Amino acid sequence: MIFQMFMVVLCQLLWVHSFVLNNQPLTVQDVMIEVLHLQQEISALKSQLTAIQSSPSTTWNKHVAFMASLTNNVQCTGEAPVIFDHERLDTQMAYDVRHGVFRAPMNGTYAFSMTLMAQAGKMVYAHMVRNSVSERIGYVFINADPDRAQERSTFILVDLTVGDDVWIACLPGETSDIDGGHLGLHSFFSGFLVN
Ligand SMILES: *[C@@H]1O[C@H](CO)[C@@H](O)[C@H](O)[C@H]1NC(C)=O
Repeated sequence: MIFQMFMVVLCQLLWVHSFVLNNQPLTVQDVMIEVLHLQQEISALKSQLTAIQSSPSTTWNKHVAFMASLTNNVQCTGEAPVIFDHERLDTQMAYDVRHGVFRAPMNGTYAFSMTLMAQAGKMVYAHMVRNSVSERIGYVFINADPDRAQERSTFILVDLTVGDDVWIACLPGETSDIDGGHLGLHSFFSGFLVN
């Protein structure tokens, strides 16, 4: 008798302290099982998220694009990077505007373009290089036109590993006069991650 009364009280207590999910009352045990399931689901979702973030085929956080302009005339004779001093776009802060170097924030295939203008009567010899001037991945040569400035450009596709640097270097032993006029629209360096 006492046991039955105890059970009734216990049931009432459990009822009062029970949970409701989808309008169905649940026992503490049901809730524990539900919590366990949720933990398993969260852990599965976490590993899926990690896989998505590190997958090369996803667009997650992978919008890499930059464009930098030259806003003053530059005469270069050596292999130091040409510093395109005005950043117009840099989604991942991958272009170092102080040193003129783009650094790949992740592995992938990248597209780069360099557009350069030679001042009237002047020549330009410029390489696009990867990591060192011995690794040339692009070239623009502009012959001198005595009367007019001339603009040329090239478009490069290249595979990069995270941390690879790409910059524009002039040809040692030659003098290149690059025009930085017209609000920086004569000469610029740009690139983006293709995939
Ligand atoms: C990037 O590429 C390098 C060289 O191929 C490789 O060792 C590294 O694991 C790659 N990193 C990622 C995150 O895919």
